[in-house]
Amino acid sequence: MSHKVIYPTALKIFRNRHSEKKVLSELMDKLPERCSNLKDATTCLSIGTGYGDYDIDFIEKCLPNLKKFIAIEIDGDCVKEVKENLYTRFKNKFEVEVFEMPVENFFDLYETVINDFDGEKNKAEKYSFNSRCKEVLNGEVDAILAFHIIHFLAEKERKRFYNLCFDHWLRPKTGQLFFTGCDENNSLNHLLSEAKSPVILSSEIIVNELKNGGKNVVEEFPYNCPIDYSSFDVDIRRFLNFTFQHSGATETSIEEAMKVIAPNGWSEYPCNFCIARKA
Ligand SMILES: C[S@@+](CC[C@H](N)C(=O)[O-])C[C@H]1O[C@@H](n2cnc3c(N)ncnc32)[C@H](O)[C@@H]1O
Repeated sequence: MSHKVIYPTALKIFRNRHSEKKVLSELMDKLPERCSNLKDATTCLSIGTGYGDYDIDFIEKCLPNLKKFIAIEIDGDCVKEVKENLYTRFKNKFEVEVFEMPVENFFDLYETVINDFDGEKNKAEKYSFNSRCKEVLNGEVDAILAFHIIHFLAEKERKRFYNLCFDHWLRPKTGQLFFTGCDENNSLNHLLSEAKSPVILSSEIIVNELKNGGKNVVEEFPYNCPIDYSSFDVDIRRFLNFTFQHSGATETSIEEAMKVIAPNGWSEYPCNFCIARKA
């Protein structure tokens, strides 16, 4: 597993093997009709923004009056690229603030600032997370975007995320969380199981966690895309190196697993696009 590749490139390579972007783009075309308050949305927070692949489409199609976009992304290459991509697509149409850090740290900073805990103040200053950021987040966020990221968070951090969204950040009555996740039958999970690695937390579990926590999951749009596993070439290796990096799987075991889950070279990529609203 020695190929060095930056995360945005790896993700693009993987996404070139399925049509999720097109499917989501068509869904986003219809969202403004179904969620009429989106046209009034002025503030959007995104977690795990990547290079902005899906967020930028969402902003373009659903948030015509956006004034402020705040992104939190852990990967420096993604941060660089998302800033460039936002500028290329929208110039300075709205204010952009990108925090390069794990979302878990962002949660800490927010909680630190609201509790005014002196010992941690330096940390907040280091990341320019000041009381102005806190004010923007306090009940003024119209849309929170979390596309293919919630499953990366540990259970405790997911619960913290849901509570921060619904008890602090989203605008009362109208604020909405938009997220995507893989169905438990997603071929990535088959691949991971076959290679004896832990599977990705499914969108069903995320939806149940939200519902059990009293949150209002108002829409679910399941979709499915065929995915090309026909060649185990250098490109697919690059993405899988990231996906499997903590799993202990070897290239040989992944290649064998691909043959088992996609004997004719193709498999399926079922996912779910969901909307949760403040109750
Ligand atoms: C599968 S990508 C999705 C990117 C983007 N949301 C999209 O759909 O185009 C997941 C992203 O989450 C980021 N990520 C994973 N764990 C994170 C964490 N703890 N804090 C912040 N970002 C994280 C990764 O760096 C990656 O860019």
